[in-house]
Amino acid sequence: RKRTKIADALSPEKIGEEINIKGWVRTRRGNKNVSFVAINDGSTIHNLQVVIEMEKFGEDFLKPITTGASLSVNGKLVASQGKGQTVEVQAEEMEIYGTADPATYPLQKKGHSLEFLREIAYLRPRTNTFGAIFRMRHHMSFAIHQYFNDRGFYYFHTPIITGSDAEGAGAMFEVTSFNLNNVPKTEDGSIDYSKDFFGRQTNLTVSGQLEGELGAMSLGAIYTFGPTFRAENSNTPRHLAEFWMIEPEVAFYDIHDNMDLAEDFLKYLIRYALEHCKDDIEFLAKMYDEELPDRLKFVVENDFVRLSYGEGVKILEESGHTFEFPVHWGTDLQSEHERYLVEKHFKRPVILTDYPKEIKSFYMKQNDDGKTVRAMDVLFPKIGEIIGGSEREENYDKLMQRVKETGMNIDPIWWYIETRKFGTAPHAGFGLGFERLMLFVTGMTNIRDVIPFPRTPNNAEF
Ligand code: 4AD
Ligand code: MG
Repeated sequence: RKRTKIADALSPEKIGEEINIKGWVRTRRGNKNVSFVAINDGSTIHNLQVVIEMEKFGEDFLKPITTGASLSVNGKLVASQGKGQTVEVQAEEMEIYGTADPATYPLQKKGHSLEFLREIAYLRPRTNTFGAIFRMRHHMSFAIHQYFNDRGFYYFHTPIITGSDAEGAGAMFEVTSFNLNNVPKTEDGSIDYSKDFFGRQTNLTVSGQLEGELGAMSLGAIYTFGPTFRAENSNTPRHLAEFWMIEPEVAFYDIHDNMDLAEDFLKYLIRYALEHCKDDIEFLAKMYDEELPDRLKFVVENDFVRLSYGEGVKILEESGHTFEFPVHWGTDLQSEHERYLVEKHFKRPVILTDYPKEIKSFYMKQNDDGKTVRAMDVLFPKIGEIIGGSEREENYDKLMQRVKETGMNIDPIWWYIETRKFGTAPHAGFGLGFERLMLFVTGMTNIRDVIPFPRTPNNAEF
C-alpha cells in the first residue's frame, strides 16, 4: 500500500479509505483493551491517532511502541469519536521499524526546555516546536525565491571562499590547505600564502555583496541567498557564526527604491508565512508567544517609519530613558536603542538612513554633507536590525578616498574598485539576515532555535 502523508490523511474527504501511514510515535495512552498512539511524520504539526485493539496484536508486540519508535500502520481512516481530532486510523496491520528505549531516549512525552533541546540539537527536529520552525524555514526560503523570480531578479551565485573582506570588519574564518604543523614561511618569518592552495590568503565569505554588485551591473537585478560566516565573538541571542543571508542588488536603484524594495519584500514574506504556515504559527503562538499572529499582521498592514540616523539619535537622547550604552551622534546603535525606537517610540518598524560614515562600510555612497553615507537599516520589534543595506558609491575617486581613509588593504578588492572605471552606474542593495527573519516569524527569542545546527562560539558538535 502506498504511504499517505498525515497532512493528507487529516482531510475529511479521506474518511472510509484504507490507508498506510508511517511515522514516529509521539504519545501512547490507553487501557487493557485499547491503545491510542499519536503518530507524527513531519508533514504537519498535527498527529494522527492510531487506535489499536490490544487483543488483535497482543501485549508483547505492542510493548515497544513507545515515544520515539517508528511505525508503519495499515488501517481504515474513520471519523473520530474522541476529543482533539476529527479522524483516526483503526490499525489492521502494523510494523515496527525501530524502537526507542524510554530508559535512554532523551525526548519524552513531557515538554522539554529550549535550553535542554539545544544540547541535543541532533534530535530536536523530532519535537513539535522544531518541526514547526523548520517547516517554516523551508516555506520562507521558498517564498524568497518566489518573490524575486516573480519580479525578474536572477539568483546569482557568489563564492563561499573568497580573498576579500566585504564588510571590512575583519571578522573572518580563514580557509587554508596548510598542514598547521608545517606552515611555509617566507624569509622574514611571515606565512607564505603563495604556497597555499589558492596561492593567496582566503577566507569564508562574510557577504556576497561585492560579487553581487557585479551581477547587478550586468544582469540588472540579482539576489544571492547563501551561507555567510562571521568570526565575531558575539555570544548573543541574535548572532550566529554561520548564518544565511539574502542580498538583492539592483542597477539604477537609489536608496529610496532600495527602501521600497526592503519594505515590500519583508511584508510579502510575513504575509506568506501567515497564509502558508497557519497551523505552525498557531502552535508556536499557543506555546510561546500569544501575540505572535497579531504582531505579524500589524507589520504587514502598517507603513514602516523612515527617518535619518540623526533624527533617531535625537529621539533617543531626548527620551529620558537610561540605556546601558549611552547614545549620541556618532555612536553605533545597539539593539536596545533600535528596539526603543521601534517598540517604545514609534511602535512600528523603522528604517533609519544616513548614518555617520565612520560606523558604516567603505562601499556606501557618501552624502554631500561629507559626514554621512546613504545607508539604511531596517529595525524590527523584538529583533532590532533585520536588514542592513545602502546605495553604493559608484564614483571611482570617492570610493578610493574611502578605502584610503578606512585603511583597507586594496589588494584583495582591486577588481571591485576597478569596475567603477567601466560603465559605472548608480545601484543599491541590502542584506536580510535569514535567521533574524525566522526569529520574527516564529516568535522565538534565541537565534540558536531557528537554524537546525547553530554555529556559535564553542558550538560545532552537531
Ligand atoms: O548589516 P550587515 O553586516 O550587511 C552586509 O553584510 C551587507 N553586505 C548587506 C548588503 O548590503 N548586501 O548584515 C546584513 C544582515 C543584518 O542586518 C542582520 O540581519 C544579518 O545580516 N546579520 C547576522 N545574522 C546573524 N548572525 C550574525 N552574526 C549576523 N550579522 C549580520
Ligand atoms: Mg548591519
